[in-house]
Amino acid sequence: MSTRPTTTVIDGITHLVTNDPSLGPSDDGPRLGVIRDAAVVIEGDRVVWTGASRNAPAADDRVDARGGALLPGFVDSHTHLVFAGDRTEEFSARMSGRPYTAGGIRTTVAATRAATEAELEANLVRHLREALRQGTTTVETKSGYGLTVEDEARSLRVAARHTSEVTYLGAHVVAPEHAGDPAAYVDLVTGEMLDACAPHARWIDVFCERGAFDGDQARAVLTAGRDRGLIPRVHANQLGHGPGVRLAVELGAASADHCTHLTDADVDALASSAGRTVATLLPGAEFSTRAPWPDARRLLDAGVTVALSTDCNPGSSYTSSMGFCVALAVRDMGMTPDEAVWAATAGGAAALRRADVGRITPGARADLLLLDAPSHVHLAYRPGVPLVAGVWRGGVREV
Ligand code: NIG
Ligand code: FE
Repeated sequence: MSTRPTTTVIDGITHLVTNDPSLGPSDDGPRLGVIRDAAVVIEGDRVVWTGASRNAPAADDRVDARGGALLPGFVDSHTHLVFAGDRTEEFSARMSGRPYTAGGIRTTVAATRAATEAELEANLVRHLREALRQGTTTVETKSGYGLTVEDEARSLRVAARHTSEVTYLGAHVVAPEHAGDPAAYVDLVTGEMLDACAPHARWIDVFCERGAFDGDQARAVLTAGRDRGLIPRVHANQLGHGPGVRLAVELGAASADHCTHLTDADVDALASSAGRTVATLLPGAEFSTRAPWPDARRLLDAGVTVALSTDCNPGSSYTSSMGFCVALAVRDMGMTPDEAVWAATAGGAAALRRADVGRITPGARADLLLLDAPSHVHLAYRPGVPLVAGVWRGGVREV
């Protein structure tokens, strides 16, 4: 007897965001590939059919979307979820006027080192579940709160049990033990620590910023990782101007993340990469650190591919809500609702070099977000409202 995976038709969708550019421009803009009064058929973990509801083929099961909007699940391509403890006091002090500095990272490093592997994993799972409930179906996450060979490797082992998008960030800040000798720490990150971490990771990252790692150190970290088969991505130009963005483009990094302080040369470099290096904007960080917003409009007008992500971490951006980031991007960063939703789905997929997520087209993973709202615009129009009515991940209904 042949065992064909179960098929499910989701119909009653008022507004289907496919992100399929071949569908051509619609009144919702050129990129979202919106189909009105639509249906989607999933088989096993894949989408196998999309189109007008009236043409939908028969399936084993049926779900009525009750007039809601269906979007690709959010792709959060930048988080820091392997950590312990929180930084409530630091946040409160900041809201009373204290500036954000990367120095707070050391508080989380101490708590993370003191936690057991089981505690780190439980905390990660809790945050992934929290993100899933809000529509996020793909999550990148990273080390960076261990900063010893064993603590970094442990963080990555934990992460790799829950996502394939794992990033080695031993170069988050100089470990406290090496405070007087940053060069020795870079040697460790590019040597013994890389040996222990590379088998668990797909990506390598560095915090290229004053107070963390300079351009030469960042280059050494990224090229060492690249030589071991890891693909670069860079924390760049978050707190001030610097070489991070241009280095990311030069080394063919998948993403330059933050991009808050950019010169014209930085914007030109990103544009010249023709989408190879995505600018990943993280407005949760600007919200929580009271920093100036990244200028998404300037990047988009220059032809740069833009992604939106949460940067979820206990210091600079303790939110797992992609919907919140979409709302901030629309309200304060010059993005249209279409651009922001594309950036939070297809943009995140581009930043992770994934063709199977961030779209609802035949062959894509059945990662779907159903909103109790008539279109994606409501994510920005009704900020803070729990609009998520259903979430499927790999064809399995999770919410
Ligand atoms: O992306 N910028 C560096 N790392 C994090 C902040 C980490 C922290 O404050 O704990 C970020 O914002
Ligand atoms: Fe970050």
